[in-house]
Amino acid sequence: MFDQLIKQTVQNQMSADANSSFAMSGNRLEDSHIVPDVDHSLPAEKNAEIILQQMTLEEKVNMLGGEDNLAIKATERLKLPKVWCSDASAGVRCFQRATAFPVPIAMAATWNRNLLDQAGETIAKECRAKGVSILLGPGVNIYRVPTCGRNFEYMGEDPFLAGELAIPYIKAVQRMGVITTVKHFACNNSDYDRHRINSKVDERTLQEIYYPAFKTAVQRGGTKSVMSSYNPVNGSWASENHELLTRILRDEWGFDGFVISDWISLYSTEGPLKAGMDLEMPKADFLTFKRIKELINKGRLTEKDIDRPVRNLLKTFFEMGIYNRPLKDHQYPEYSEEHSQVSLDTAREAIVLLKNENNLLPLNREAITRIAVVGKMAKETTTCGGGSCCIKSFEPVSILEGIRAVAGDSVEINYIEADLNRLTHSEQKMVEEADVAVVAVGFTSQDESECYDKSWELPYLQSRLIKEIAALNSKTIVTLTTGTGVETESWLTQVPALMHCFFLGEQGGKAVAEVLFGSVNPSGKLPFTMAKKWADFESVKYYVKKPDKISVFRIIGPQGKPKFRRIRDMEYGEKLMVGYRHFDTNRVTPQFPFGFGLSFTSFELSQLSLSETSIPVSRLTEGDKIAATIKIKNTGQRAGSEVVQLYVKDPESSLPRPDKELKGFEKVHLLPGESKEITLQLDFSSFAFFDDNKGQWIAEPGEFQVMVGNSSRNIAEKAILKLG
Ligand code: BGC
Repeated sequence: MFDQLIKQTVQNQMSADANSSFAMSGNRLEDSHIVPDVDHSLPAEKNAEIILQQMTLEEKVNMLGGEDNLAIKATERLKLPKVWCSDASAGVRCFQRATAFPVPIAMAATWNRNLLDQAGETIAKECRAKGVSILLGPGVNIYRVPTCGRNFEYMGEDPFLAGELAIPYIKAVQRMGVITTVKHFACNNSDYDRHRINSKVDERTLQEIYYPAFKTAVQRGGTKSVMSSYNPVNGSWASENHELLTRILRDEWGFDGFVISDWISLYSTEGPLKAGMDLEMPKADFLTFKRIKELINKGRLTEKDIDRPVRNLLKTFFEMGIYNRPLKDHQYPEYSEEHSQVSLDTAREAIVLLKNENNLLPLNREAITRIAVVGKMAKETTTCGGGSCCIKSFEPVSILEGIRAVAGDSVEINYIEADLNRLTHSEQKMVEEADVAVVAVGFTSQDESECYDKSWELPYLQSRLIKEIAALNSKTIVTLTTGTGVETESWLTQVPALMHCFFLGEQGGKAVAEVLFGSVNPSGKLPFTMAKKWADFESVKYYVKKPDKISVFRIIGPQGKPKFRRIRDMEYGEKLMVGYRHFDTNRVTPQFPFGFGLSFTSFELSQLSLSETSIPVSRLTEGDKIAATIKIKNTGQRAGSEVVQLYVKDPESSLPRPDKELKGFEKVHLLPGESKEITLQLDFSSFAFFDDNKGQWIAEPGEFQVMVGNSSRNIAEKAILKLG
């Protein structure tokens, strides 16, 4: 009860944050068209320089701190307009309602690059319509433990998957002239105490697990902005971590955009400016004129230290056209049926069918007369996790509404809320007499949210409910609404069917119903491993013991003031053994493996071949690629999609390596009986590991196994590649 009160306070605080800009602008930004007087045909760098030369020190500093919670200040004298940001990856959170998409972990469960592209483009159109130029997403932090409150905002446990899926999203948003902000850099893998957990991570683990998705987003996605995280990394706040913000991001990866601080995460003035921070949000606490002037007077900073971030901002705004267009673009709608359709398409492909004993699903509408739909989550289906990723949508469809609409008039739907109480006698009878029972369980956006961690188990009353319903009706289907994997071991054997439904956005209920009745054939695959027991994760050995324990001290106010509190170290002692890397290497049987998801049809993978079976390492370092080709056939009776997953194993190496690592994937749609040939490209990075003694990525000569399957635990074909 007390926990709920604290969580509610945090949620209220976060919506107040999101709403504060509304107050300034009547809930909606006014049209405006202010652009600087420059020759816009000149290169962005040139125009940035021209403007920079005209700015006074005060005007420069003015740009380095936000206002109205979500804006970068205007410089009226030089006609530099105010630039607006908005959260985030599942839609446009601020500035009135918008289309709510499935959350990023659900997007990742689609394993479908085209959908990520479409979602990105649609969200960017809504940004343009509303006057938003910077989207504060996508998040690509790695799913290290299943209880992290923000796992739903990220793209799962595998760095390759997260990076690959971030690319189309980023490219789509940015080709619409909206800047993406890849976040939270780096090692913000816990919301238990995000302001004071010092992530202690060794170099190899950073390079192989926690950096790659960011690196891909920068180098191949081309993101123009990166957000630093709240936490310190190896003893230095991410917001003033020179290693992260300059040596890695700019010098090693060649990032040429700007770095935004997470909201209230600067702890000094000189440190961030020297480390590579460009913008303090939501307002200047440390990057103020007074503080900066003092440091300049003392000789600790020079005007060049201020020019650097201002130049980064100006150049990017010119480059993205933000300084050469009206604030709003009226050719795009703020929402539309077409946008909602993209959200629905994404939701359809995100659902992961985890169990389907005796082909209970899909339900046959002709053969069914009565369905019992049980659980509050069916009626009040959570569409997003809590916090800055939660989008206020239009008329979200609940699971109950979806089932009612898709089942049609000939099927009687009996809803039983069964919130806190045991079922009454008549409700029990309803469940017994139903042809099937659908039990909807999961977390609310208050229970699963930014600012604190969530529990590994479902709320007790929900698992009790599952067992109660399963005892009454042997055809019980469970729908799971959450952004993570949860404990299922205590009830899984009692139910014949289970669907992971994530937080699916505004059309989620419809998509769930369509899968139940088979008008959609499920094709989602887990972007994380689901364990039998919490203790089965190697990472939890190094995590807090009771992550879901709430404390006022830790989370009120949500954007904490860490300087008043002690920083605690969190060792990433499992090193590379995150998710399936651990389960597969250490032979721990998962409940459901990474990459797993059932279909109503069946597929066969065969004839894996490599374009070369032996290649010198030098050719790979020069950029040569190897093509892995595989045949996939739909051997069942229905059209469906399968995700072809390619893993690489290095059986012998000078440093220990995980049992296998994902290095390629492709989602393929096939009609019954249809076959296709899929080609996946392998390059140096598919075989290399980070040698921390040498401080570089190396691929060692020897035999590698190239394995293709449809989960990390179901490998259908193998081939050997020799590196010479
Ligand atoms: C979150 C960021 C978000 C920002 C602005 C912070 O609390 O950590 O992800 O973009 O708020 O809403």
